[in-house]
Amino acid sequence: MRSLRALAVAVTSVVALSACALTPVGSTPTPSSATPTESVLAQPTPTASPPSGPGWTIETVSHDDPARPVHLQWPVVPGATALNSMLHDDMMSREQRFLAEYLPSAESPPELQGMWEAVLDAPSWVGVRLEFYEFAGASGGLWTEVLYGEKMGGQALRSIDLIAPTARQSAVEAVVAALRSQGHEVVEESALSTDVQGQLFDDLVFSPRGELIVRVGEGVLLPNSVGVVEVTLPPSTTDLLLSEAGVHVRDTVIALTVPATPTPTPAPAVEPPPASTDCTVAQCVALTFDDGPGGDTERLLNDLAREGVHATFFVLGTAAHAKPEVVRRMVAEGHEVGNHTWSHKQLSKLSARAQGTEMRRGIEAITAAGATPTVFRPPYGTYNAATRSAAGLPIVLWDIDTLDWKTRSTEKTIEAALTAKAGSIVLMHDIHASTVDAVPQIVSGLRERGFTLVTVSQLLGHKEPGSVSSRR
Ligand code: NI
Repeated sequence: MRSLRALAVAVTSVVALSACALTPVGSTPTPSSATPTESVLAQPTPTASPPSGPGWTIETVSHDDPARPVHLQWPVVPGATALNSMLHDDMMSREQRFLAEYLPSAESPPELQGMWEAVLDAPSWVGVRLEFYEFAGASGGLWTEVLYGEKMGGQALRSIDLIAPTARQSAVEAVVAALRSQGHEVVEESALSTDVQGQLFDDLVFSPRGELIVRVGEGVLLPNSVGVVEVTLPPSTTDLLLSEAGVHVRDTVIALTVPATPTPTPAPAVEPPPASTDCTVAQCVALTFDDGPGGDTERLLNDLAREGVHATFFVLGTAAHAKPEVVRRMVAEGHEVGNHTWSHKQLSKLSARAQGTEMRRGIEAITAAGATPTVFRPPYGTYNAATRSAAGLPIVLWDIDTLDWKTRSTEKTIEAALTAKAGSIVLMHDIHASTVDAVPQIVSGLRERGFTLVTVSQLLGHKEPGSVSSRR
């Protein structure tokens, strides 16, 4: 297996998620027959999340391989060492199991995606919901787990640890009763199965009133067709069920005055300087950087500024949300900003509606950060007719793939980029330090060959929304 380097970037606030289904924590997800269409994606939206505190950083693992895409993000919370280890280990084991289980396939690429949101950010405790999306062949699954940790090191908990071990069967019965009172028909044999405890209690959060909210995953206790259902158990029920740690977490939530999520103030968009290069005359090449901003992006911006080069950044909505100040800097320094969706799902496998949501949320996050995206690049370069009709922007692919995400080699990235011809669009990723290290030599090498470095819109000229370009 290739070695993966996790990247840390500063995050200033929460990354929100869509809701999804559950499988047992720490076990292989049971792929259901459901495909990840909007019927699954449009399940209950998460409860309002507190913004995460200062100093949170994000780790990212990304394999930009369209035949087996992987994109995982999770937070690192200052001081919460036990939780940080648990998060890291969970993500890495998901990734390793996925890579071991599924071979790359051009026809039907298996995909793994993992995102997160903060569900609790108190001075003492923090809670993080992980959302995994795994899709292989005809089956797919979406599921979540919520992990808790003490900020001063201490302990980390899985959701099930909030319930006393001796009370777990009673907790199952309380959920079954609540589902029935909502009018659901509980699958009898599933309610009696001993596995159900592990499946039911992966995603537990407390309301500000101390109620326990149980997210019942697809196919758990109820027929698959019902999807994800939330059940709220009142304190009078849960008093008898919670573990000591569960009582601590609940009391922390009750005591926490949840601050209002600040409305992002869009910075005034700085107009890029007028294009002075005529690429019908000059030999132009466009450098493009996907998936950021990341931890090395500001270093890249320093290098580009020193060289007077303008590039195009295909920004991920989640990353723009985490580092809006870096997106603003891109604009202020004359770079072009493109949309790369909210969370890097492979669009061609989503319904038209879910694709629209991914693209729209990306644009919203970039706009909130203070940039106006002018071009769109679908993750992994895969798209279909629905992508084109919903993109709202010209679609820009590439002709030179440096494979920087795969080699993590500065030398190989330089070598690949320098094969550019007049009119080339070069694909790189600013989330990799090895790529950022390569850029000064790529810039000087291309200039020595007589090329002028421009943004993709300078290279391509006017393009219609939904049109697809890979080079001039
Ligand atoms: Ni990408």
